[in-house]
Amino acid sequence: MAMPPIRPIWVLLFAFLSSFTLLLASDPDPVMDFAPGVNSFVFRDIYSNGVVVNGTGGIRAGLSTDKFPAITTQGLTIVRFRIVPCGCQLAHSHPRASEILSLISGGPLQVGFVDTKGETHVNLLYPGDVTLFPRGMIHFELNVGDKEAEYISALNSQNPGTLTAAAALFRIPERALSTSLNLPATLLQRINSTLTHNIGPILEKSGRSGCVPGRDITVNF
Ligand SMILES: *[C@@H]1O[C@H](CO)[C@@H](O)[C@H](O)[C@H]1NC(C)=O
Ligand SMILES: *[C@@H]1O[C@H](CO)[C@@H](O)[C@H](O)[C@H]1NC(C)=O
Repeated sequence: MAMPPIRPIWVLLFAFLSSFTLLLASDPDPVMDFAPGVNSFVFRDIYSNGVVVNGTGGIRAGLSTDKFPAITTQGLTIVRFRIVPCGCQLAHSHPRASEILSLISGGPLQVGFVDTKGETHVNLLYPGDVTLFPRGMIHFELNVGDKEAEYISALNSQNPGTLTAAAALFRIPERALSTSLNLPATLLQRINSTLTHNIGPILEKSGRSGCVPGRDITVNF
């Protein structure tokens, strides 16, 4: 007896559900030892050869599957940082990864994130300390000490993505943003004119933030 024909509607439904799963799931478990074609498992000198972001606040060096194909399908990556006193990685989020960060030397480092209850979790890290930023939460790192802070972060995606909060906000059309912030358009334009518009990670040392290296080593502001 012949099989009944597969109705196009089921094909469509299947395609729809699979794409949905791809969009919402975290990185899937590997189904093989490592991705096809990978033959090198060492990445040399991440500060020179990695995905490097350099700003007045310091330097950040990460990986990508292009630069280090060994991470492909492994569901993880790392990023290394050297942040100057009063340097900050501006508030940002990673839509596809939780992040675990350890301060290697220098600092102290003020770190924090905001959860979906609106609670802010701020802590001070000293060398050897570890902190966690849950997936998707807006977080920051600020070197409140008087020594360069060197730290390393691991993230559980091969492609965590970074959305810098202020840059992302100012991509919202003016009228909606004005309503969101309850500020007039003229003031928004002034703020926008001094903003760094990169959506990716930004390291800055602000002259305006009132940060003095080594002073106010606290979680209070
Ligand atoms: C980053 O900037 C510093 C200071 O301007 C410079 O010395 C260093 O070579 C830069 N590093 C990279 C990787 O661009
Ligand atoms: C802020 O400036 C950027 C870059 O000029 C622009 O693309 C964006 O639309 C501006 N945002 C607002 C809300 O005006």
